[in-house]
Amino acid sequence: MNDALDIVEGDVVIRDGRIASVGTADLGSATRVINARGAYLLPGFIQTHLHLCQTLFRGYADDLALLDWLKTRVWPMEAAHTPRSLAAAARQAAAELLQSGTTTVLTMETVHDTDAVFEALAPMGLRAVVGKCMMDADSAVPSRLLEDTARSIDDSVAIAKRWHGRANGRLRAAFAPRFAISCSRELLEAVATLSAEHDLLVHTHASENRDEIAFIKSRHGRKNIDYLADTGLASPRLCLAHCVWVDEHEQALMAARDVKVLHCPGSNLKLGSGLAPVVEMRAKGISVSLGADGAACNNHLDMFEEMRLAAVLQSVRLRPGALTARDAVWMATREGARALGLDNEIGSVEAGKRADLILVDSPKGSDPYSTMVYASRGTDVRTTIVDGEVLIDDFRPTRWDFRDIAAIARAEATALASRAGI
Ligand code: GUN
Ligand code: FE
Repeated sequence: MNDALDIVEGDVVIRDGRIASVGTADLGSATRVINARGAYLLPGFIQTHLHLCQTLFRGYADDLALLDWLKTRVWPMEAAHTPRSLAAAARQAAAELLQSGTTTVLTMETVHDTDAVFEALAPMGLRAVVGKCMMDADSAVPSRLLEDTARSIDDSVAIAKRWHGRANGRLRAAFAPRFAISCSRELLEAVATLSAEHDLLVHTHASENRDEIAFIKSRHGRKNIDYLADTGLASPRLCLAHCVWVDEHEQALMAARDVKVLHCPGSNLKLGSGLAPVVEMRAKGISVSLGADGAACNNHLDMFEEMRLAAVLQSVRLRPGALTARDAVWMATREGARALGLDNEIGSVEAGKRADLILVDSPKGSDPYSTMVYASRGTDVRTTIVDGEVLIDDFRPTRWDFRDIAAIARAEATALASRAGI
């Protein structure tokens, strides 16, 4: 995934957590040699929109549209989370993600106990940009999720001070105002200022659903993206999940300010949100990367599925080939790195970058991009390496037992749903 999309046959040398060379190497002095014959080596996938905390909600929130889904299922369940259930959700999600080839995520967690998520992620080995969800408006929210504005801001800054750059830089913090409906203008303005001051990303949802944009129009008299720009948020640090319902004018604004779009095709289909104008946004130079969104609206976390859906949905919207397999792999790797401001660190197999790599065991077709997008799935991932650490080794996790993690997650999910009355 270098700029030329070169496909190299040869060796990749990893030293001190980084890629030392790509091509032919003398492996005589290596401490370990992994035989990758019969597989493709790719940069690990970068999912730019996830909610790890929603992993325990899988199967408890089907067949609803966005606002009802949030009000009747997701918010009551988020309110019922404890530090233990949040840790169980983060571990389950990280295990699933690493096993299916995702090495980096941008995740929006819930309002409270985000430290538990960082603590759970540190030993799992996943690279993660984590945001404590901010919600200081909207009366339909359970009281446990509704925050005082100043407290929400202070907590977010304190979490960033505690965690940003930890675990050899693998863990980072972001501001995560939930969406314009759940946030006061005062909060959004403060986040805009603080994100510039601390150089932290702002991760939010925008223009996912028609009822959502109608609500913003009635409350603020503005289109959603214009409203977010009014608060000062429109910058290269702004990461907007979905952007299904954005018109030409809003797209031009996003392009001019280098705002990032996080496309979630699986979630958009299941929640009935719509088909995003991905080809048009990319044609304007907007960075569009990919994410599964979460187990509550997808319901799996497999990047191969999102790549395939991203491509085939544009076939239906426009024409076959409007978004190619190459485009989809680019979005899953290079655009993810760009969205996170980590383009110098991750997103390609090039000397100097972090060794975040996967081996995909599926040489099923003649073209590797076509094989990845149209003929592979997460279960084809043989090996996953993050920061030079082998986390999945020939299909086997090296640091945890998946059955233990899954058993704890199941027990925590049942108890959580019962606390939430679902
Ligand atoms: N909009 C506001 N909150 C959420 C959420 O948790 N998931 C999705 N998909 N959209 C949202
Ligand atoms: Fe989301």
